[in-house]
Amino acid sequence: MKAVSLVPPYIESLRPYEAGRSIESVRQQYNLTRIAKLASNENPLGPSPKAVEAMHRTFDNLHRYPNGGLDLRRVLAEEFDLKIENVIAGSGSEGIIGNIIRTFLGDRDEVLTTEAAFIGFQVLARSRGVLYRTIPYDNWHYDLPALAAAINENTKIIYLANPNNPTGAIFTKAQFDDFYRHVPERVLIILDEAYFEYAKDNPRYPDSMHYRYDNVITLRTFSKVYGLAGVRIGYGFAHEELIRNLLKVKLPFEPSTPAQAAGIAALEDKEFLHRSLELNARGVRYLTEGLQELGLTVVPSEANFVMTVLPDEEEAARIFEEVLSHGVIVRPLAAFGLPHCIRISTGTDEDNHLCIEAWRKCYAANVGASRRR
Ligand SMILES: Cc1ncc(COP(=O)(O)O)c(C=O)c1O
Repeated sequence: MKAVSLVPPYIESLRPYEAGRSIESVRQQYNLTRIAKLASNENPLGPSPKAVEAMHRTFDNLHRYPNGGLDLRRVLAEEFDLKIENVIAGSGSEGIIGNIIRTFLGDRDEVLTTEAAFIGFQVLARSRGVLYRTIPYDNWHYDLPALAAAINENTKIIYLANPNNPTGAIFTKAQFDDFYRHVPERVLIILDEAYFEYAKDNPRYPDSMHYRYDNVITLRTFSKVYGLAGVRIGYGFAHEELIRNLLKVKLPFEPSTPAQAAGIAALEDKEFLHRSLELNARGVRYLTEGLQELGLTVVPSEANFVMTVLPDEEEAARIFEEVLSHGVIVRPLAAFGLPHCIRISTGTDEDNHLCIEAWRKCYAANVGASRRR
């Protein structure tokens, strides 16, 4: 018997997650000393120092099982004026998305989202083997009216990331309110706010904490602005009935003890948050302007990355390789479903400078490049 026959077709057809190139492999390949890794929307300042200290303090007790995120849930409930029953903590927001999919999707249910949605969601939803329907972007933004119109009797989950990855675009409060009016209560909306902190000061950005809707679950993470991507800690808010059922499915011992301690301490690290946001705002401006000066289209971003739209797939592949050879690792978006686009995370000021210099060199070396067609 061939092993493959054991695998359902919807798993067989999945593409395994391709991590971006590591700093070490690029260093070796091109014999470079300076590398800027701008491919995974990580915090270039490193982890929150308070979070690191808090993790250290847990080490003597690592022989004990974790308490399932109880302490972090309590802290978050207090911080956001909710009941603990409305809060869940997990191994990153992706961990919680996995639990949502296992908890709420039946075999005949359908998932609805935008084209080229966050790849983590695409993979988790497709691995459930249900129908996965998408609506094209409207000028790189969610087309919320078209999504509302596409809801049918089988739609069970609508996934919205705000700000969106990979475009960096947001939808506004007014747009969401309008959309929400068209969503039946039997449909669960996942509002993925992994990049919330970067957008929250924009007055048009909806703070979903004010949405006390029974069918909306908000997800946030410590992976981005708090610099804890390697620790795997995220959280969600929802109606207590949703959380109660999610907790049945969640692995009882996630998040880990160090991850929970890191999350609690990171929330208190306001100085780090402030520094990270300032650096990022500068980085988004610098990268956007630098790419625009080369005549490139850049989607206005409210997150910690920018997406640039190239004329075609070949040019995107060529640019990716060329900037790599200058020590700049960016994210090609073919796996998301946008082979002609590239996403660049903000780095330190030095990283961002290296990045724009590399892009300039690519275009200088290709005078009359196809972008001018
Ligand atoms: C929209 C979105 N949601 C979730 C995540 C994953 O977050 P976590 O590290 O908490 O699983 C990411 C990470 O890139 C993301 O872009």
